[in-house]
Amino acid sequence: MSNNIESTLVENRVFKPAKDFAKKARIGSMAQYRKMWKESVTKPEKFFAREAADLTWQKKWTKVLEWKCPYAKWFIGGKLNVAENCLDRHLGTARANKAAIIWQGEPMGEKRTLTYAQLHREVCRFANVLKRNGVKNGDRVLIYMPMVPEAAVAMLACARIGAMHSVVFGGFSAESIKDRVLDSGAKIILTADGGFRRGAVVPLKKNVDDALTLLAGGGANPVKRVIVFKRTGQEVHIEEGRDVWWSRELEYVDADCPPALLDAETPLFILYTSGSTGKPKGILHTTGGYLLHAYMTCKYVFDLRDEDVYWCTADVGWVTGHTYMVYGPLAMGATSFMYEGAPNWPENDRFWQIIEENGVTVFYTAPTAIRAFMKWGDSWVKKHDLSSLRLLGTVGEPINPEAWMWYHRTIGGSRCPIVDTWWQTETGGHMITPLPGATPTKPGTATLPFFGVDAAVVDDAGNELGANQGGKLVIRKPWPSMLRGIWGDKARYKATYWSEYKGMYFAGDGARRDKDGNFWIVGRIDDVLNVAGHRLGTAEVESALVSHPSVAEAAVVGKPDELKGQAVVCFVTVKEGVKADRALRDALRAHVRKVIGPVATPDEVRFAGGLPKTRSGKIMRRLLKQIAAGEALKGDTTTLEDFSVVATLAAAED
Ligand code: PRX
Repeated sequence: MSNNIESTLVENRVFKPAKDFAKKARIGSMAQYRKMWKESVTKPEKFFAREAADLTWQKKWTKVLEWKCPYAKWFIGGKLNVAENCLDRHLGTARANKAAIIWQGEPMGEKRTLTYAQLHREVCRFANVLKRNGVKNGDRVLIYMPMVPEAAVAMLACARIGAMHSVVFGGFSAESIKDRVLDSGAKIILTADGGFRRGAVVPLKKNVDDALTLLAGGGANPVKRVIVFKRTGQEVHIEEGRDVWWSRELEYVDADCPPALLDAETPLFILYTSGSTGKPKGILHTTGGYLLHAYMTCKYVFDLRDEDVYWCTADVGWVTGHTYMVYGPLAMGATSFMYEGAPNWPENDRFWQIIEENGVTVFYTAPTAIRAFMKWGDSWVKKHDLSSLRLLGTVGEPINPEAWMWYHRTIGGSRCPIVDTWWQTETGGHMITPLPGATPTKPGTATLPFFGVDAAVVDDAGNELGANQGGKLVIRKPWPSMLRGIWGDKARYKATYWSEYKGMYFAGDGARRDKDGNFWIVGRIDDVLNVAGHRLGTAEVESALVSHPSVAEAAVVGKPDELKGQAVVCFVTVKEGVKADRALRDALRAHVRKVIGPVATPDEVRFAGGLPKTRSGKIMRRLLKQIAAGEALKGDTTTLEDFSVVATLAAAED
């Protein structure tokens, strides 16, 4: 995508922050950035103590950082409450009656605004609903909600009483919900009858019912209560004694719920994400460090102001929705815009219409969406006045320079800086990103590390590489919002992130730095795919495929895709006597959707006589990737067990 001559030329263009933007920005020069960054990595305790003073602490910490690699503790002895920081502290100020959340539903004309005072009240009441239903400090609460303000209310209510939430994206299946309930031990599920997406209704409650049936069948169902928010009004099953309506529960409670006094290292949430092996892992984030990083990145990267209308288009089921729709902007006292549905409903200009109607000033979305907008054409954009925009952001995958340029010119009117933010579920917030008033940007690079982030590109032995040498991306020091572990699996935490190199966090991405120090992220170098900005483990899709009775073996790889970044290609061998035909191919696609969810739908299913393996029996993914991409085979094949397999694979078509 980005390897043609045009993009090479574009890559070398430098865009300096406009003078008037830099003048107003909190960080207005590279000298200021460099000075602060240096202090943040050489004297992190001093630096972060100063920054943390912006938050509201019920009790001040006694020590900023304790680092026993790979375990970090930040703000030891400090006590605070995330919900108090996102809500209560704004109430005594002019922000009390400003919009905290402006929401639009997918059906045209549906709009709600919650001021900080109103959101505070809703959160307190719902926190009392949780208490009434037996939720206590340390309990896990599974949230499977559409994009409605109640999703944020639910998260903040958990934070208020010290319960952990685990939000599951609405595009995941009943089976995925079941796995997450079992792993987290959630006693309660918060859901809705359904949600609107591209004109259709997503059957959320039905998926929860199916998950609970699966759990009951397995003999282990920790879920005692399901609270159902009425969103679509469709008919749903209500199980007497287990399921209750959200609105009915609210009738029993008042709005008096003081924020719990919580230790800075109290777990805030678990968010499941895909790895290169096994089932998704529960990434654990805690209170003080996470909140500080969420707050600081909104302050310095988005440079949020009271007058901004800030819109992050991510679903609340992903980490971007956690940090940059809920916690970061609300901790700043900003106005966070939230939209329920698809960008092309009812027409391809829905986003531009929303920006115009609401005067959105800061807009944060994913490259896959930008590429889709480009394909739909400029005329959809030109119908709307986007002059309110002042800053654009992108996240989720490498942005190809053509998409960057289109975003800059067509959406940003060549006037808005673009912040290309590299980070991960594990990092909690932005790690490598421009600061809009300081950093010169080039299309396609996430540029430089954020405060406290000591990023480097290293070779296999862990030595830092010189300019323009490709290697692995690592972080060499702890940062406040780093994951604190994998829920229930200490060994996997160490093995996944801290065993590749001694004392360094290995992100799973490949990268290079240019001569100016900018990081160019190449993408995942492990067996994790990035499909339309969604993270997907090849192992998960493989295990879904082999759970089908007709499949003997499966191998899944990514293939470059113009819109989605990567497409999911499955190589499948069938069991003796099974007919490998179109009907089976369709059945396998449907099976993967059922097991994981629509996000994992295979783009191609190719039947093969065998899979290429080394003599020790390992599948040679490198070869499969080349075959999937239609490339000539290159590299060493001498360890391949059976050459004829490759011939059958190359002939196999979807
Ligand atoms: O490969 C990187 C890619 O997304 C991965 C993290 O995925 P996830 O945990 O789902 O979080 C996505 C939202 C933060 C990374 O390992 N990635 C994310 N942002 C960028 C990116 N790749 C290149 N440039 C980015 N800006």
